[in-house]
Amino acid sequence: PTIYAITPTYSRPVQKAELTRLANTFRQVAQLHWILVEDAAARSELVSRFLARAGLPSTHLHVPTPRRYKRPGLPRATEQRNAGLAWLRQRHQHQRAQPGVLFFADDDNTYSLELFQEMRTTRKVSVWPVGLVGGRRYERPLVENGKVVGWYTGWRADRPFAIDMAGFAVSLQVILSNPKAVFKRRGSQPGMQESDFLKQITTVEELEPKASNCTKVLVWHTRTEKVNLANEPKYHLDTVKIEV
Ligand code: UGA
Ligand code: MN
Repeated sequence: PTIYAITPTYSRPVQKAELTRLANTFRQVAQLHWILVEDAAARSELVSRFLARAGLPSTHLHVPTPRRYKRPGLPRATEQRNAGLAWLRQRHQHQRAQPGVLFFADDDNTYSLELFQEMRTTRKVSVWPVGLVGGRRYERPLVENGKVVGWYTGWRADRPFAIDMAGFAVSLQVILSNPKAVFKRRGSQPGMQESDFLKQITTVEELEPKASNCTKVLVWHTRTEKVNLANEPKYHLDTVKIEV
């Protein structure tokens, strides 16, 4: 199956560095299609140029987050992930048979190559541990006799699916047979996006544990430090224009 990676991304000083690390990983994965969705009113030149040289099958989408949703404490990238889902459904509306696996790959996380081997065998919805998240060194689904029976997490253990966006994959078939499943702004509290989405398409009993019954961390919820630009000149001083 093709792996479809939906990556929301937005303009900031570290954007090209993040995308470079991600592309360097994805380039080593067979049959991966990168759906990069810019949080912007238009496709940027930086991302367009970057993708053209990335050497990866890709689709470049864009949708701006409404200004009222750009606030601390509100979920991020809802509209961008939905745009990726809409593109996938549109593209496959006439040819449902093709095998595929979808996962949501934020631009700042760290992905091992083994993770892609694991998720490629997803039948419906698969899950695995995520490192450096939830206020702990890792969160993970608790597995008994091959079934998910609970969650090891330090944060809001009451979540129906106590899992980060980086901790699951969904087969294309499930995405197509649940055409209304989307990320919701209304009523979605911070950190509940994953649960709100997953409960539209699956149940805890149905989840397929990966990474040796969820005992291996193959993805890390790394976050990049804000860059210090204190010495950036107010006006352009360099003799040439440099894209960073
Ligand atoms: C955590 C989760 O890991 C995310 O999956 C979830 O979307 C997010 O919380 C949330 O609060 O909604 P965190 O590291 O805090 O992640 O979030 P970011 O990595 O800053 O953002 C998640 C993704 O959305 C990234 O790919 C980022 O580039 C993108 N993003 C972020 C936008 O497209 N627009 C924004 O304004 C901010
Ligand atoms: Mn992040």
